[in-house]
Amino acid sequence: MNEKRVTFASKVGVIAAAAGSAVGLGNIWRFPSQTADGGGAIFILVYLGCILFFGIPLIISEFIVGRSSQANTAGAFHELAPGAPWKWVGRLGVLTGFIIMGFYMVVCGWTLDYLVQSLTGSLHKVNDFSANFTSLLNNPLRQIFWMILFTLLTAFFILSGVKKGIEQSSKIMMPMLFLILIILAVRAILLEGASSGLSFLFMPSLEHVKPTVFLDAMGQAFFSLSLGMGCMITYGSYFNNRINLTKTAMQVAVLDTMVAILAGVIIFPAAFALTANPGTIVDELVAGGPGLLFITLPGLFNQMPVSMLWAAMFFCLLALAALTSTISLMEVVTLYLHEEYRLSRKMSTFIVTAGVIVLGVISSISAPFFNLLDISSAKFMLPIGGFFISLFVGWYLDKKMVYAQLTNQGTLKTAVGFLKTYIFLLRYIVPPAILAIFVYGLTG
Ligand code: PFF
Repeated sequence: MNEKRVTFASKVGVIAAAAGSAVGLGNIWRFPSQTADGGGAIFILVYLGCILFFGIPLIISEFIVGRSSQANTAGAFHELAPGAPWKWVGRLGVLTGFIIMGFYMVVCGWTLDYLVQSLTGSLHKVNDFSANFTSLLNNPLRQIFWMILFTLLTAFFILSGVKKGIEQSSKIMMPMLFLILIILAVRAILLEGASSGLSFLFMPSLEHVKPTVFLDAMGQAFFSLSLGMGCMITYGSYFNNRINLTKTAMQVAVLDTMVAILAGVIIFPAAFALTANPGTIVDELVAGGPGLLFITLPGLFNQMPVSMLWAAMFFCLLALAALTSTISLMEVVTLYLHEEYRLSRKMSTFIVTAGVIVLGVISSISAPFFNLLDISSAKFMLPIGGFFISLFVGWYLDKKMVYAQLTNQGTLKTAVGFLKTYIFLLRYIVPPAILAIFVYGLTG
């Protein structure tokens, strides 16, 4: 299976595809609601620490595993550690991808519903945005319809092949998304009363912090960077030998973090400025839960000229950002079935699509099921996957092979100090820190 493998066509394509996977609803929908729940600035500080100490070393590690094995997530461990139980780490990743799709597709469906509400102008006429969102949640058939449509759309891209589908779409929509986020952030900051939203985001205060802040922030970091389930292994397997893994990992982490922070700079100033009850705004934000984005943003659009146009553009770009993430999720599971069970790509895609729709239907009907899939995957399965991936690259893989991957067989001038720090982090910092956070989060 090694020789004929396709690779991404260009460096820009590689970054766009990897960043396209990372940047998605995790940044714009999940990050703000987790930040609200986690008490604001302290959550963000812990989150940034996780990106730096776990995120970047682990993206590099997944790239190494992918590029050196040229295989799907489970196949990669099998290839690098034949006969050893490491392949279970890959299998866990495939299962995690499947579970994430089971609730993620539902939120993708919400973005389509809101896109249509913006295009028809009905969003513009709403007075109570919270009630508007609740009416969507209380209508399973409407959610199921959009969820199925989004899943089929993802499947279509998976079938249309790696280069055309993933690379091209990411290259165009990423810069556009960035631009519209900046415009919305500027508009939000200029609202009267926006500054208290900014202080909630950036001025650390212990007032609303919860003991689970480390667990929550770590889960969010893994989720946002698409880490711990082999998504970056799968994409790394499409990299050619000239790609600088370290640089690419850093670029992905920086882009992903910038988008998340930008989303915060839109949502919080807008929420604080537009609330009718400033005294209870934090409780209101926490109560908004997964609906935060869909409740707060329409209020912001209504403060802008040609609000329908902004709303439609935003939800269209959000759906596209989500699409590049669902493509990466579905690719992990599809490639696994295709390579490990020798099913055709079509058959593999069909099976995954059907399975995701079943989970998506249950998540649309049951909020507890939705939350169960969200929490079990982001807070537990991804960090557990990351724990084992760091052990695998830090302790199991031959250090010479790891260095050769990092330096592209010695052709890149990578500082020895960096290589040593990287291995040190993977061996002595990442695994114990993940364990400590679990213990603290579950007992604290
Ligand atoms: N990183 C994506 C987001 O932030 O929306 C979600 C995701 C994609 C998680 C792919 C995991 C993954 F493998």
